[in-house]
Amino acid sequence: MLSNLRSEFMLEPDIHYLNHGSFGACPLEVFEDFQNWQRILEKNPIDYYTRQLKGLFGKQASGPLEDARIKLAEFVNADSEGMIFTPNVTVALNAIANSIQLQANDEVLTTDHEYGTIVATWARKCEQQDAILKQVEIDLPVTTQADLVDYFWKQVTPKTRVILMSHITSATALVLPVKEICKRARKAGIITVIDGAHAVGQIELDIRDIEADFYTSNCHKWLLTPKGTAFLHVHSSQRETFEPLVISWAEINQPSFSLRHEMWGTRDMAAFLSIPAALKFRSKHDWETRNSEARSLLHEYRDSFANAFGRETICDRSWLAQIASVLLPSETNLLELWRYLWEEHRVEAMITKWREEPIIRLSFNAYNTSDEMDLLLQAIRQHQNL
Ligand SMILES: Cc1ncc(COP(=O)(O)O)c(C=O)c1O
Repeated sequence: MLSNLRSEFMLEPDIHYLNHGSFGACPLEVFEDFQNWQRILEKNPIDYYTRQLKGLFGKQASGPLEDARIKLAEFVNADSEGMIFTPNVTVALNAIANSIQLQANDEVLTTDHEYGTIVATWARKCEQQDAILKQVEIDLPVTTQADLVDYFWKQVTPKTRVILMSHITSATALVLPVKEICKRARKAGIITVIDGAHAVGQIELDIRDIEADFYTSNCHKWLLTPKGTAFLHVHSSQRETFEPLVISWAEINQPSFSLRHEMWGTRDMAAFLSIPAALKFRSKHDWETRNSEARSLLHEYRDSFANAFGRETICDRSWLAQIASVLLPSETNLLELWRYLWEEHRVEAMITKWREEPIIRLSFNAYNTSDEMDLLLQAIRQHQNL
């Protein structure tokens, strides 16, 4: 096992941070790089915005912003021209919803494992355009990815215009077979929107291979960048018709596709500029090995937690990456447990609900120890009298 990296992170020493998935955690080295970019800005804001950040007035699309874009695109095997920097996945999904025009009775097909605000965005969109949001019910435990693809695809109709799906679901932490869904959708002429909020940095991403029309992910979770760092990749076939969410000088100056969609007047881009530092930090610390070590340990704990709670596991290990959800005893009072873990044990844990099922989403990262997982399990046992 590689050495523990807690000292590289800014987390308070007396807390047990077992919920990386919600907001991530940024290493000090990456955070300092981010702040350094902010300092560079304030030394000469004119120079920074008009000459340095993105080339002369952003017309040439060169400079540190482009460098960060190219490095990130390489990391996820995407075409850098289609990569737009957005503050988060929520904004990216709003931008997509804003751009796509639906007809009355068109269907947006999704699952009942999607993130709340994303469902709300698309529900609103459908309501405004008299379209229908259909949430396919995916029951637990899930069986195989092939079964899921077949079952999901049976709900596709000639009215299906858009498929909206998480790459890794939020409450249930399942890695969904988005590549297979996107391939089928492309053949059927259905637009695909993939919410990869948890994907970049947690699983190996190959955006060219997935070939979604729209793929968005948060770098501030598993890539270890500061908050407010996400991207939206738009497939080349969608770029001409993609509408900017915010109209700015880019409308007049006509720079690159990505700048046209991310120049929102005066904007602090420092967090994006620290993407190369996050990538460097990860390779310096052999992050791939750390991810795989963390996964094996997490998967073992997932099974022991389920066992201790007397609940069946919701999937086999092939569905899991570096977060794993376990059903809590059905009578669990979620708020009370969450408060107890924090107030009595200084444990940050993700306690949530899917349908009526109480869930704990386990997470393990390079700054965690197995003692912390043991503490979490013991604390829940104590609280639930198990
Ligand atoms: C699956 C999923 N989608 C979207 C989001 C929203 O992310 P953000 O708040 O950074 O926009 C989250 C947040 O955790 C999520 O889990």
